[in-house]
Amino acid sequence: MGTIRFENVSKEFPGMGHPAVDNCSLEVTEGDFVVILGPSGCGKTTLMKMVNRLYDPSAGTIYLDGQDVQQISATKLRRQIGYVIQQIGLFPHMTVAKNVSVVPHLLHWEQEKIDRRVDELLDLVDLPPAEYRDRYPAQLSGGQQQRVGVARALAGDPDVILMDEPFGAVDAITRESLQDELLDLQRQLHKTILFVTHDVDEALRLADQIVIMQRGQIVQYAPPLEILSRPANGFVNQLVGGDDMVRQLSLVRVEKVMQPLPPDFRNNGQPTIESQHTLRMALSRLLRSDVEELVVVENGTRTGLLSLQDIQTHDQLETNGQREVNGRGALHEKHEKNATNGRSP
Ligand SMILES: Nc1ncnc2c1ncn2[C@@H]1O[C@H](COP(=O)(O)OP(=O)(O)O)[C@@H](O)[C@H]1O
Ligand SMILES: [Mg+2]
Repeated sequence: MGTIRFENVSKEFPGMGHPAVDNCSLEVTEGDFVVILGPSGCGKTTLMKMVNRLYDPSAGTIYLDGQDVQQISATKLRRQIGYVIQQIGLFPHMTVAKNVSVVPHLLHWEQEKIDRRVDELLDLVDLPPAEYRDRYPAQLSGGQQQRVGVARALAGDPDVILMDEPFGAVDAITRESLQDELLDLQRQLHKTILFVTHDVDEALRLADQIVIMQRGQIVQYAPPLEILSRPANGFVNQLVGGDDMVRQLSLVRVEKVMQPLPPDFRNNGQPTIESQHTLRMALSRLLRSDVEELVVVENGTRTGLLSLQDIQTHDQLETNGQREVNGRGALHEKHEKNATNGRSP
């Protein structure tokens, strides 16, 4: 559960020369981490807010698991979808535990179940419950507040989480560690995450798929490496700094490019690389050790293989298929996993 489909979605605000969101079509696959990237004012927040009905579209339809979100009550929808924003929106007069348990309370869970859930979530976001449960937001650092925001969004165990520049207000070092934690969380939880940012490095680090927006339109929808190696136009190329190969390799993680471990895999003592490490590190290890592929490990378990070919981008493109954008910014999926889906639910 957790597939989101935008079909020719537009949003107009009075007095704007062009629609804030202009005929956008997009399918977000269950369990994918999709980042919407684009400059300020290009319509990212507006696109996202139509998913949980903070805005209603002027035209088009958004489907959540095949159901038109306009047919779901806004209250029900918002309990069903986690939402994290930059301004955090923690209630200042409520303790951390109370903040995290807002949705479970609305869902009328029993207190004992709520208490257990709060502790579990605080553990998950690295805030030891005994220490943090009873604090107030003002007694936390910016990064800690943001973690409480993430815990709160996860509380009702939603299939979908919307995150709008959630780490925009914290310093660069905290932001990187929050990004790492979010990736760790996603490895455990496999939620469908729609994440908005204007920070290119953040998008490249986090995304399975990146949606690039320009003036309300989607100009490209592709995995990070494809965005870098095959920008759809000059705007995308300039935005992501597509000419800087070293920078690109330092941002994309091994796990996004590796191949699954074949069932007949035999360990011949090949060198290993951690799944969270970057392609830059993988490349230097490959070149240094004179082997054809590295064994990818995650928490000590072998999870895949990474060869030089996987890093060379043309192979990446062939295995990932291509996506094509038409003149209106709408998107036609050629991806095999979507090819069997009909146009309507
Ligand atoms: N509630 C609103 N009323 C009028 N205009 C709005 C409203 N929300 C957003 N806009 C306009 O829509 C455009 C897209 O805004 P937004 O989606 O917030 O961009 P982004 O999140 O990419 O920075 C901007 O020009 C903004 O001024
Ligand atoms: Mg915004």
